[in-house]
Amino acid sequence: MLDQVRDALNGIKAPDGQGLVDAGYVQGLDEDDGIVRLVLEAPADRVKALVPLKAAVDKAVRAVEGVKGTRIITTTQRPPAAAQGSPAAATAVPQGSAAPERRPPTDAKLPRPARHVMGVASGKGGVGKSTTAYNIGVALAQDGLRVGILDADIYGPSVPLLSGLGPDAKPDLDDQKRMIPLQAHGLEMMSIGFLVPADSATVWRGPMVQNALFQLYGSTLWGGGEGLDVLIVDLPPGTGDIQLSLAQQSALDSAIIVTTPQDLALIDALKAVSMLEKVSTRVLGVVENMSHFVCPDCGSLHRIFGEGAAEHLKDRKNLSVIGEVPLSMPIRKGADEGAPVVLDAEAGPERDAYIAIKSTLKPLMMA
Ligand SMILES: Nc1ncnc2c1ncn2[C@@H]1O[C@H](COP(=O)(O)OP(=O)(O)OP(=O)(O)O)[C@@H](O)[C@H]1O
Ligand SMILES: [Mg+2]
Repeated sequence: MLDQVRDALNGIKAPDGQGLVDAGYVQGLDEDDGIVRLVLEAPADRVKALVPLKAAVDKAVRAVEGVKGTRIITTTQRPPAAAQGSPAAATAVPQGSAAPERRPPTDAKLPRPARHVMGVASGKGGVGKSTTAYNIGVALAQDGLRVGILDADIYGPSVPLLSGLGPDAKPDLDDQKRMIPLQAHGLEMMSIGFLVPADSATVWRGPMVQNALFQLYGSTLWGGGEGLDVLIVDLPPGTGDIQLSLAQQSALDSAIIVTTPQDLALIDALKAVSMLEKVSTRVLGVVENMSHFVCPDCGSLHRIFGEGAAEHLKDRKNLSVIGEVPLSMPIRKGADEGAPVVLDAEAGPERDAYIAIKSTLKPLMMA
């Protein structure tokens, strides 16, 4: 079926006379159970063309036999002049609305989805950032706040797994084609994992990733259109363009860093702090994850990954450790099974750890 879709797309001509696929306007083309997904990418100076183009693409793809629906994400490439220095020049095109003028690279602002937007960052992968972000979110929602989580880790989205909704869950659209966030555990959530299969996202280039992300951020109907109290942004690991760009566009009011206690992880955590400082994002503190292990048989406490992280970060960056989360089987199991440990009444110390972090963060965020 994808060959026919490609032919149909090439039947639409780009300004240079080539078909859309041949001209490089179509990325990440994929099909699943009759639903065709693709990213429509145009040069930044042709941003206005994207809205009518999207409608034409939608029509052409739906006309292909066997196609039951489409999921089209529109993005613009960075203009060549800004490509070297300014990730903020990337421009999101909200679906279904008039295309905005290209925003200036310095003071560009994304629409506000919440009173407070907090990023969760880490210098390296696999330290438990997503698990921490999700459990803190659920704990805040339990206090009656309207909380959302935006999974900004386009290369390895975790929210479909953590929420238990799975990658096949899809957001509905309202009559203005804005995405209605999915819901689980009292949270609203949006993830590229609900829109595009992970294997096609991995071939995207940097500017495409950024733009898809800004679209997720800006075209989602958070809080039924009224906005949320708190939006937690689960950032991709590392200190590259995407993280910098999100923070730079003032998308984040604050951030926390998740790290494990090892020396190397701390060096990476310091890099993440420096990156956030560069764009003047307030770092509220550090969560030390997998901080210790309590032997379930004898009750003795082991610092498997070493200790001293707290002092080190305090000395180097004057950052406080806002919580220590143990390395624990119920946390891992809860994450894999879409049942966050913070909702598990049996999980004493693990639950307490997340609740304590929530209680520290809440006044800082709501101040
Ligand atoms: N405190 C913990 N105890 C036990 N397992 C944990 C803990 N925190 C996270 N994990 C597990 O470690 C793995 C990595 O966690 P997670 O996906 O949250 O990390 P991440 O930093 O978001 O990773 P990535 O860089 O891939 O986004 C998961 O299998 C998760 O269940
Ligand atoms: Mg993650």
